[in-house]
Amino acid sequence: MKRQQVGIEALAIAVPRRYVDLAELARARGVDPAKYTSGLGAREMAVYDPGEDTVALAASAVSRLLRTHQVDASRIGMLVVGTETGVDHSKPVASHVQGLLKLPRTMRVYDTQHACYGGTAGLMAAAEWIASGAAAGRSAVVVCSDIARYGLNTAGEPTQGAGAVALLVSEQPDLLALDVGLNGSCSMDVYDFWRPLGRREAVVDGHYSIQCYLEALSGAYRGWRERALAHEVVRWGSTTPGEQLARILYHVPFCKMARKAHTQLRLCDLEDAPNAANTTAEAREELAKSSASYEAQVASSLSLNARVGNVYTASLYLALAGLLHAESGTLAGQRLGLLSYGSGCASEFFSGVVGAQAAQRMARTDVEAVMARRERVSVEEYERLMKLPGDGPEVLAPAPGEFRLAEIRDHKRHYVEGAAS
Ligand code: CAA
Repeated sequence: MKRQQVGIEALAIAVPRRYVDLAELARARGVDPAKYTSGLGAREMAVYDPGEDTVALAASAVSRLLRTHQVDASRIGMLVVGTETGVDHSKPVASHVQGLLKLPRTMRVYDTQHACYGGTAGLMAAAEWIASGAAAGRSAVVVCSDIARYGLNTAGEPTQGAGAVALLVSEQPDLLALDVGLNGSCSMDVYDFWRPLGRREAVVDGHYSIQCYLEALSGAYRGWRERALAHEVVRWGSTTPGEQLARILYHVPFCKMARKAHTQLRLCDLEDAPNAANTTAEAREELAKSSASYEAQVASSLSLNARVGNVYTASLYLALAGLLHAESGTLAGQRLGLLSYGSGCASEFFSGVVGAQAAQRMARTDVEAVMARRERVSVEEYERLMKLPGDGPEVLAPAPGEFRLAEIRDHKRHYVEGAAS
């Protein structure tokens, strides 16, 4: 494992200005609200309008990151946007962001795509670029920005959402120092969730997608655990390797999925433990489902996801933002595990240590203020917004420092920035 420190120095989020209450949506669909709130674990869902596209959300998150953390843009040598809901088959979202934020020309600028894994692909490219020395002291900005859309009256409807998380990646990992070299990966060629060209809505084999996620998680986690054991980062003992992580963050298409994922990760440890032969498969399954373990290691990371919904590439990093917002003071110096999953599919399990400056960084990030500005809309208004054509944004003034798509003219997208207050 390389010893040089590299990881996430700061982060910022952007979310659409509106949200819908999921109990209200359930009632409108004739469904028991407990199915959405308890069965899927969701409370609210971000509702976007065509002016809040993937570019606008990404640019708003980067603008907030640079402003609140006073980042010197000349320090940035790489800008990567991870997204599966880009706005053009050729021109990257990252180029729009570079232009809107007037970032220097002396940067490597591109998008990464592999369903919800695209953001992690970007993060690892940035971290390994810095760790290799090729960055020569420069930092990277990695943005995860997406709009999760399945459509009205579909099984996936309560698992939609939208938003962006921007990460500053550098040699000064105040939020999370990555354990470079320990990552475990698992990928397979499957049709669990996809979006054919020209479609706004994803196609999904919902229950199969959950199986694929859990299978890929097992492979990625076991890969990480093998390396982490070899480097004595974790060990078999009175606790399992997974239990030695202070918190574990998962890709969160809906909050209940994090609980299923945690049960699967625990099962991997319980099945592979040196003393596994002393227990029955039934006993291991029961132990894997432990609510105490889920409450201690996972639950506190889901506060933002439960209010925003699925954000595809950004979901894992929204969980990180939620966790550090709630617990950065007490987690300083402790190791987190993170599981990224993208349909199709690819997954990666990685780890990192929370920095001593995390609480100060998160105080500047002020995630709660961003969430508090949102406005709750009725199911009727949500349905109206969902039916708007993607190329016909409403004329609305963006919030100060945020961006909106204003119009598409001659196939070119034009954005406006909210005037400073
Ligand atoms: N009270 C409490 N709980 C209830 C309930 C009630 N009245 N009625 C149902 N439930 C529970 C069910 O028991 C179930 O829980 P378990 O899975 O723990 O058994 C849960 O609510 C959901 O019920 P169903 O399985 O019947 O729901 P569904 O078939 O309508 O759809 C879904 C669920 C498959 C997740 C669907 O919303 C969907 O397709 N979503 C999109 C796909 C997705 O998110 N896949 C995740 C893995 S892929 C991935 O992670 C990539 C990505 O971002 C898309």
